[in-house]
Amino acid sequence: MDKNKTYQLLVKQIESLIEGEDNPVGQLANAAALLHETMGWWWTGFYFVKGDELHLGPFQGPIACYRIKHGRGVCGTAWKENRTIVVPDVEQFPGHIACSSLSRSEIVVPLHDAQGNVIGVLDIDSKDLATFDDVDARWLEEIARAIQHNVTL
Ligand code: SME
Repeated sequence: MDKNKTYQLLVKQIESLIEGEDNPVGQLANAAALLHETMGWWWTGFYFVKGDELHLGPFQGPIACYRIKHGRGVCGTAWKENRTIVVPDVEQFPGHIACSSLSRSEIVVPLHDAQGNVIGVLDIDSKDLATFDDVDARWLEEIARAIQHNVTL
């Protein structure tokens, strides 16, 4: 299936999966599971802003680092700069944090509160180079909006 169609379906599935629940850990765990299973990525999960760090949240994939400082790695940079970051080759990203040595490319999308402050990130890793592009960024930002609407962190 074409990537746009897959994501279009995913947005609807995620909305119906998480709406009406009042359990952020469960909702994000299910969102990560659905994304991960559908897309076949290497690591799919969430980090939450806590003080000057990101703390590990629900995810699918191999074990990951618990804390990431503001401005560190791809996740901490996406938080600091409040923007989606697409990394085609993690070895070319200065300060990339290698939770798994098998990770080759990555995308990080910030999650916002109603005021536009970053409250967490959606982080996705792939075992292949250049897995993510602008199409992924656009749709994952749409998914982040659906999550912000339905999950109270
Ligand atoms: N690679 C990320 C760290 C998190 S793991 O990929 C799960 C980074 O550089 O921020």
